[in-house]
Amino acid sequence: MNIPFVNEPFTSFANPANQEAFENALRQVESELGQQYSMIIGGQKVTSSRTLTSVNPANKEQIIGTIYQADQELAEQAIQTAAETFRSWKHTDPNERARLLYKAAAIMRRRKHEFSAWLVYESGKTWPEADADTAEAIDFMEFYARDMQRLSQPQPLTRIAGEDNELTYIPLGVGIVIPPWNFPLAIMAGMTSAALVAGNTVVLKPASTTPVIAAKFMELLAEAGLPDGVVNYLPGPGSEVGDYLVDHALTRFISFTGSREVGLRINERAARTAPGQKWIKRVIAEMGGKDSIVVDNDSDLELAAESITASAFGFSGQKCSACSRAIIHKDVYDDVLQKVIERTKQLTMGSPLEVGSQVGPVIDDKAYAKINEYIEIGKSEGRLVLGGGTGSAEGYFIEPTIIADVDPQARIAQEEIFGPVLAFIKAEDFQDALEIANNTDYGLTGAVISRNREHLQQARQEFFAGNLYFNRKCTGALVGTHPFGGFNMSGTDSKAGGRDYLLLFTQAKLVSEKY
Ligand code: NAD
Ligand code: ALA
Repeated sequence: MNIPFVNEPFTSFANPANQEAFENALRQVESELGQQYSMIIGGQKVTSSRTLTSVNPANKEQIIGTIYQADQELAEQAIQTAAETFRSWKHTDPNERARLLYKAAAIMRRRKHEFSAWLVYESGKTWPEADADTAEAIDFMEFYARDMQRLSQPQPLTRIAGEDNELTYIPLGVGIVIPPWNFPLAIMAGMTSAALVAGNTVVLKPASTTPVIAAKFMELLAEAGLPDGVVNYLPGPGSEVGDYLVDHALTRFISFTGSREVGLRINERAARTAPGQKWIKRVIAEMGGKDSIVVDNDSDLELAAESITASAFGFSGQKCSACSRAIIHKDVYDDVLQKVIERTKQLTMGSPLEVGSQVGPVIDDKAYAKINEYIEIGKSEGRLVLGGGTGSAEGYFIEPTIIADVDPQARIAQEEIFGPVLAFIKAEDFQDALEIANNTDYGLTGAVISRNREHLQQARQEFFAGNLYFNRKCTGALVGTHPFGGFNMSGTDSKAGGRDYLLLFTQAKLVSEKY
C-alpha cells in the first residue's frame, strides 16, 4: 500500500448534516435491537443451551441482543478449528492478509455511524466517544495492514561473502484474544486484526457486557472475505471458558486487555506447560491504570483544569488512561481545584442517545456498586467537593465526583476505581509531585502541565509511565502517533498502534544458504 497512514478524522457533531446522519444511524440500530447472536466456529453459526442478555447501561430494560454462550466443549471445538485453519492461513501472502484489512477498514468507514451507534447502545458511550472508538478501530486495521507489509519486505541483514541470508517474520499459531468492554470496538478489532494479519488464527472471546459489537465486527470480517475459521467468535464466561482457552496445549499466545486481576491470572496459568504443549506461551497483557496529572506552580491553570476534567470524566472515567489523581503544587492547588469544579459542573449527564450528553452511565450493576463503594471510602479519606450522587435510575448513572485533600497513600489514590471519581492531592513542590505520581503499582499514562522547561525535562526522565503527555490531557492516544502501553502492573507495554506491536504476534526465522 503506497498511501501513507493517516488517522481517521473525528466527526464534528456541530455540523447539522453529521448530526442528522448519526440520528439516522441510531434509529437504524434501534430497529435491529433484541436479535439473537450465535457463536461462530469455522464460519458456522453455533448455538447452545445457555444465553446471555446484553442490555443498554443507560436503560437497563432495553435489550441489545441475546448471545449464545460457549461451554468447554465448544471452546475445544473452536481451538481445534483455529489450529486446523492455521495450517493454511499461515501460508497466505502477507499482502493478501493486509488487503483484507484494508477492505474491512473501508467497509467500517462506510458504516462508521452505524458502528458508533451500536457503541452508544451497548456500552453507553456518548456520540464523540463512540465516534473516536470507531475511528480508532479503523486506524488499527489500516495501520497493522501497512505494518505487516513493511515486515514482509526483505529485512536488512549484514551481508557476508558466499552466503544468502533472509529473515522473515512468521506467525505463531492459535491466539486467544480477550478484549475489555471499555473500547469494545477499537481494542477488540485492534487485537484481532493484529493477530490475523500476522498470519495467526484466533479464538475471540468478547467481553460479556459488549458481545454484540464484537458480533457486528465478525459480520464485517466475513463481508470483507476473511476465510472461515481464521477468527472464531466464542462468547462465554471468563472464569470457565477463559481459563480453558488459556490453559489449552494448542494455545500459542494470549492477547489480553483488561484488569490487573485477570491479566495476572492469565499470565500465571499460561506459564504452566500443559501435557503435549510444545512451546512457551506468549502473553501480551495490557492491564489497569491509576493515572495522574501533575500541575506545576508555573503553568496555564485553565489548560490544567481543562486537561484534568476531560481526562477524568470522559466516558465516565472508564478508561485505563483516565486521570484519577490530580497532583497539584500547593501554590496553585486551591485555584486548580476551583476551576476543575466549575468545569465539571458544566458537564451534562444523561442518556448518550441525546447529542448533548457528556456524561453517560457506567457499564453495569457491578461497576455501579463498586464505584459507589469507592465514593463512600473517598468521603472518609478526603473532602467531597462535588458529586457523590447518582442519576436517573433508568440506567447506571453516577455523578462526576471530586474528592479533595486526599493522602497519596489513601485507597482512592492507589486503587483503580474505573469510574468518574477524581482525587485531588496537594504536593509540596514539583519533586514531591513527581514522587507522588510514581507511588502506585501502575505506570500507564500521566501528564504534566508546566511552563518550566527544567521541570518538563525532569519529568521526561523520572515520571514512570508508558504514555507521558506534557501540557495536554492523558487520554486519547492516537494510533501511529502515540503507541500505547504501560509499565509495571499496567502490563507488558506492548505499544498497541506502534511499529513494535506486530512483532509480538510473530517469530523471526533466519534462513542462511551457502553458495
Ligand atoms: P476484565 O479483566 O474484567 O475483563 C477483561 C476480559 O477478560 C473480558 O473479556 C472478560 O470476559 C475476560 N475474562 C474474565 N475472566 C477471565 C479468565 N479467568 N480467563 C480469561 N479471560 C477472562 O476487565 P474489564 O472490566 O473488561 O476492563 C476494564 C479493565 O481493563 C480496567 O482495569 C482497565 O484499566 C483495563 N484496560 C486496560 C487497557 C490498556 O491498554 N492497558 C485498555 C482498556 C482497558
Ligand atoms: N488508548 C486509550 C486512550 O489513550 C485508552 O485513552
